[in-house]
Amino acid sequence: MRYRHWGIALLLLLVAPAVSGDPAPSRQAELETLLYQDCGSCHGMTLRGGLGPSLLPERMARYDVTALIGIILHGIPGTAMPPWSELLTRQDAAWLAEQLKKDAPPR
Ligand code: HEC
Repeated sequence: MRYRHWGIALLLLLVAPAVSGDPAPSRQAELETLLYQDCGSCHGMTLRGGLGPSLLPERMARYDVTALIGIILHGIPGTAMPPWSELLTRQDAAWLAEQLKKDAPPR
């Protein structure tokens, strides 16, 4: 019984960082690169629009973070906007969505 509780406590410790808060700083750096290189290949290298519309905060104001997470993970069916759920976790998408809502997205 004692050992079982330790097991559960250990499990929670391992799982907690994955389900709450921001991605690790190293992952944030990777996501920043992805935002400007991969997303930027369609949305413009400065995110001001290209094949896809601008991703700057003025335009992102129309979406809440949850809606942006959905767009990023699932794409927009019937358009060139692809789903990213194979490459990005929900936490990754949430972090990106929050960056897009900020006045100055990271560069
Ligand atoms: C292959 C090209 C392509 C790539 C890569 C791409 N997008 Fe898109 N995205 C589009 C297109 C095209 C649209 C507009 C779809 C439509 O007509 O509604 C769009 C729409 C969006 C929208 C909704 C914008 C709006 O104002 O309606 C968001 C948010 C978005 N993309 C975020 C991202 C993010 C974040 C990434 C990188 C993780 C990404 N996109 C990568 C092509 C792309």
